[in-house]
Amino acid sequence: MDDKIKSVKIDHAIICSQLTKTYGSQLAVDHIDLKIKYGSIFGLLGPNGAGKTTIIKMLTGLTTPSCGNAIVAGYDVAKDSSKVKEIIGWVSSEVILDDSLTSMENIWIQSKLHNLGKKWKEKAFTLMKYFELDGGDEKKKVGQFSTGTRKKLEITMALLHEPKILFMDEPTIGLDANTRRLLWNLIKKINKQFGVTILLTTHYIEEADVLCDNLAIISHGKIIARGSSQELKAMVGGDLLEIDFFKFFDLSVIKNIDGVIEIRQEEDDKKEEEEEDDKKEKPLKLFIKVKDAETILPALINTITNIQPNIIKSIRIEKPNLESVFLELTGMRINEVDENIDKQFYTKARG
Ligand SMILES: Nc1ncnc2c1ncn2[C@@H]1O[C@H](COP(=O)(O)OP(=O)(O)O)[C@@H](O)[C@H]1O
Ligand SMILES: [Mg+2]
Repeated sequence: MDDKIKSVKIDHAIICSQLTKTYGSQLAVDHIDLKIKYGSIFGLLGPNGAGKTTIIKMLTGLTTPSCGNAIVAGYDVAKDSSKVKEIIGWVSSEVILDDSLTSMENIWIQSKLHNLGKKWKEKAFTLMKYFELDGGDEKKKVGQFSTGTRKKLEITMALLHEPKILFMDEPTIGLDANTRRLLWNLIKKINKQFGVTILLTTHYIEEADVLCDNLAIISHGKIIARGSSQELKAMVGGDLLEIDFFKFFDLSVIKNIDGVIEIRQEEDDKKEEEEEDDKKEKPLKLFIKVKDAETILPALINTITNIQPNIIKSIRIEKPNLESVFLELTGMRINEVDENIDKQFYTKARG
């Protein structure tokens, strides 16, 4: 090993201290502290624009932090970025394949970047077999491949030099549900069988839940919660009942039922200026947070139908999930934040 470059022996594959990135006056990543264990799958979950890609870019040496530091596989990314690049693999959310070339030609370019010499072909064939990619059809250009096959090829290329840590930025974005599930299995398999530490970003709730041993939820460049999926769900502290009523009724009757934690009305029904009489005839949607939905539901239905028969239209039970964690912490659903960003962008683009 080059003795000018010092690797620190540590238990964690990635350590960030107060990692920050500003673009002009905008704080894209805001003083992040993170520790990721070797061999784990760690997820950064957050809406578009939260700062996930910027974190990955700093950890892979593609952009320099404005302040704070990061140690990846024992190396400081700011001081030893070339060493870090040897040890990590990166699957971008953007297209990196050359559509006019074949799989092997794309892989060959990647092998040159990592100076793999003559052994590249053997490694390529082994990985392609592992991912059930057709290495024999040498004439087919990757532009003709399906999105799922292209993604598998990108992962093959990222693993060619046997990295210890694999960064995957939105690995299943734009894929259909079936292909997404196939990719999830593949990501788990790579982690278990190759022992690769994986840091992935996603805005898909289910993806974070299914894949990640540990998670950090990111909003506006900050980590707003962290832990395993189970730990995060426990933060919600109850089930959510979403109940549609044909018309308004006096809510005080349900407030005192044992196990009811909180009652929220859908925004539209709360308009203060609305006349009391108008309100009474309107349908009503309630979000009721309860300790345990199955236990409380019979008492709740009884109490309501005793005073107002046939008033309940539908009931939906939502067990704590990562979406409700985000909702609890930010007051919005992840998709709503995406929409807001899209709207802002659209307004900006139109001037
Ligand atoms: N090169 C850049 N120049 C200016 N602003 C940027 C740049 N890259 C990202 N941003 C801004 O930083 C914020 C975080 O972006 P990003 O890390 O891409 O979020 P995510 O990956 O979570 O969608 C966004 O508001 C984005 O517009
Ligand atoms: Mg991104």
